[in-house]
Amino acid sequence: MKTPDFVQLHHDSAEHIRHELVQGLTANPQPGGATVSPKFLYDALGSRLFEAITELPEYYPTRTEAAIFKTHAQAMARAMPPGATLIDLGAGNCGKATGLFDVLRPSRYVAVDISVDFLRATLNLLQRQYPAMDLVGIGLDFSQTLELPPQAGEPGAGPRLLFYPGSSIGNFTPTQALVFLRQVRAACGPVAGSGLLIGVDLVKDATELEAAYDDALGVTAAFNRNLISNVNRLVGTDMRLPDWAHHALFNPMASRIEMHLVAQRDLMVQWPGGQRAFSQGERIHTENSYKWTVAGFSQLLREAGFAEPLVWTDAPSADAGRFAVMWAGA
Ligand code: AVI
Repeated sequence: MKTPDFVQLHHDSAEHIRHELVQGLTANPQPGGATVSPKFLYDALGSRLFEAITELPEYYPTRTEAAIFKTHAQAMARAMPPGATLIDLGAGNCGKATGLFDVLRPSRYVAVDISVDFLRATLNLLQRQYPAMDLVGIGLDFSQTLELPPQAGEPGAGPRLLFYPGSSIGNFTPTQALVFLRQVRAACGPVAGSGLLIGVDLVKDATELEAAYDDALGVTAAFNRNLISNVNRLVGTDMRLPDWAHHALFNPMASRIEMHLVAQRDLMVQWPGGQRAFSQGERIHTENSYKWTVAGFSQLLREAGFAEPLVWTDAPSADAGRFAVMWAGA
């Protein structure tokens, strides 16, 4: 039996993290106000709360995407080369990719996440199920750079199938998304048949969108407000949970859901070496989740250097879909 290979490339110092957070917290009220990157939503509890979000009746993306993979598995298998290196970006528990092993029939599976520690147990277990498959875990912050180490395999050795499900592309601005997709295009390597399989959430009615990000049970509110505890831990701020409320809105001009934390009273946030006053109603912007049209995202893929994508959605006509899975050849 083979054994998985692990490599940790991403290292963030506590000082660097604190500096980034303080910069966001002290950003000018005009024009944008305080911001905290959505990556700080995902501490241990935040990751569990996100898992719970994916099971909420209002949060349609996860189950809609899963249904698309199930319904169109055969068409996907025909479009993509068997025996490829499957490179899973943001692999987490590897569940989505491994659920497609029978369809995609990869020869090598490369799971990429911010920390290899998230991947060790899963890949070790997976190796027992697939003793002959090359399994690699890579700890990399691919939102910053997507330079894959040699352990990912020779770029010219065979086709590469980059996999980015879950509509996480929506958490990038369109400009960031283009930069990222260009890097993905480069990571596909030179071999014919390579490409990107990606999940994209589509524009829809604002009521449905806002419910998905402000569910009746309050799980998304807890997910957003948990960021306060995480920032307190990382920076030493003295924010109190009761002082901050969750707010989610669809911004139609930018075609994005925005999540904010709203100060419930005039307050002063203090931390070692600094402070910031917030007036009642002032916000900290914590996440954007962009919603695309099929035409708009296809255009973005072309700008990034991909071919015209194949598109599968949950509706008979792609434009009527709520979610899209796209295969874009490199
Ligand atoms: C991870 N990402 C695709 C989720 C989204 O829908 O933008 C994160 C999320 N935020 C609130 N609910 C889910």
